Amino acid sequence: MIQVRSTEPGLALPNDQDATGRSLGPEELARLADVITSGTLTSTKGVQVPELEQRFATLLGTPSAVACSSGTAAVHAAIAAIDPEPGDEIITTAITDMGALSPILYQGAIPVFADVDPRTGNVTAATVADRLSERTVGVVATHLFGNPCDVDAIRGVADERGIPVIEDCAQAFLARRAGRLVGRIGSIGCFSSQQGKHITTGEGGIVISDDPGFARRVRLFVNKAWPYGEENPDHEFLALNSRMTELQAAVANAQLDKLEAGVAQRVAMAALLTRDLAGTPGVTTPVVRDDDAMTYWKYPLLVDGAVVPGGPRALAAELRLGGIASAPRYIQKPAFACTVIRDQRTFGDSRWPFTLARPEAVDYRSEWFTGTTAFLDNVLVLPWNERYETHHVELLGAAIRAAVEHLIERER
Ligand SMILES: Cc1ncc(COP(=O)(O)O)c(C=O)c1O
Repeated sequence: MIQVRSTEPGLALPNDQDATGRSLGPEELARLADVITSGTLTSTKGVQVPELEQRFATLLGTPSAVACSSGTAAVHAAIAAIDPEPGDEIITTAITDMGALSPILYQGAIPVFADVDPRTGNVTAATVADRLSERTVGVVATHLFGNPCDVDAIRGVADERGIPVIEDCAQAFLARRAGRLVGRIGSIGCFSSQQGKHITTGEGGIVISDDPGFARRVRLFVNKAWPYGEENPDHEFLALNSRMTELQAAVANAQLDKLEAGVAQRVAMAALLTRDLAGTPGVTTPVVRDDDAMTYWKYPLLVDGAVVPGGPRALAAELRLGGIASAPRYIQKPAFACTVIRDQRTFGDSRWPFTLARPEAVDYRSEWFTGTTAFLDNVLVLPWNERYETHHVELLGAAIRAAVEHLIERER
């Protein structure tokens, strides 16, 4: 077993940052050629963006999908659709990409962090309920690594207060909570097609909503609030240009044809690794509810440092010896410990909108975040993509088991 660790020259796993781990080919090139030949690169006059929006809406079973320039722009449009008053609060998670948080501040609202389930890293109905206040106007439920939040229970809490739930599905294309596609359970769903996501356009995003009011505001927000195609158009409110280009959408349309197969491959290979690692001491494979479908943006392991000496960091170092990349902690700090939020670095020296916040909303005392701390301390994130095949996963599983064994043996 330990031989795998010491003699493996570098297990060349497919990498989603280059062609080895991405499914990009002639289909994307053909559509890109069509766009270039047409000479129309903007979505306001083109055909690729409307086609993408129509097809994505159909795939998800929703009346509206709006393409945009990034996952950050998608979350921004969703927050703008809710239209918070300055100082209003949006409950979210501290284990996410800053692109899901900066839009809240740009819209003048305060991100209020709910704790997470230490097994999944996801916010729960109980942790969201703990942070509700009279100023809460929305909740963002992030399906971390493609593992669905209990979003119907979260919705139960939010519905009682008439507050919309935004689902951040950047990492969770085609994941299902109790059989239902994520993105459709809350009021608005946001997706990212950044380089390493389930489908890629380099940068890109898409927002869905069944609610015509939210859908209209999302479309306006990415278009400088200009209602293309309506009578007597005017710039209706403060908004940006976050449009997706025809070039991005050409790639997205070709990628969309590959989405279901790519997700199926991610899920199948993850099941293989989960089986392979069963019984490995100190290692917990992803905790997914029986009736949910996780779609594995990454493959998160929990590593118990009381059993595996040195915990996730030591395991990552061992794996690195065999050329296997992994990320202890996923993010180095919870979002509230990042400079922008901790030191309130926003607009000039104003600290706005934090100046409008209730003291409790910006209190990040550690006892409120025990789940967040435990999850970050214990998680080891394995890169994952749709190009993983059985032989990759078998070698990966063997390397993990050997590394764990080695770390335990070394302490004896
Ligand atoms: C959960 C989550 N939300 C939002 C974003 C922002 O997306 P983008 O990088 O496309 O702007 C990301 C990106 O990694 C993400 O993981």
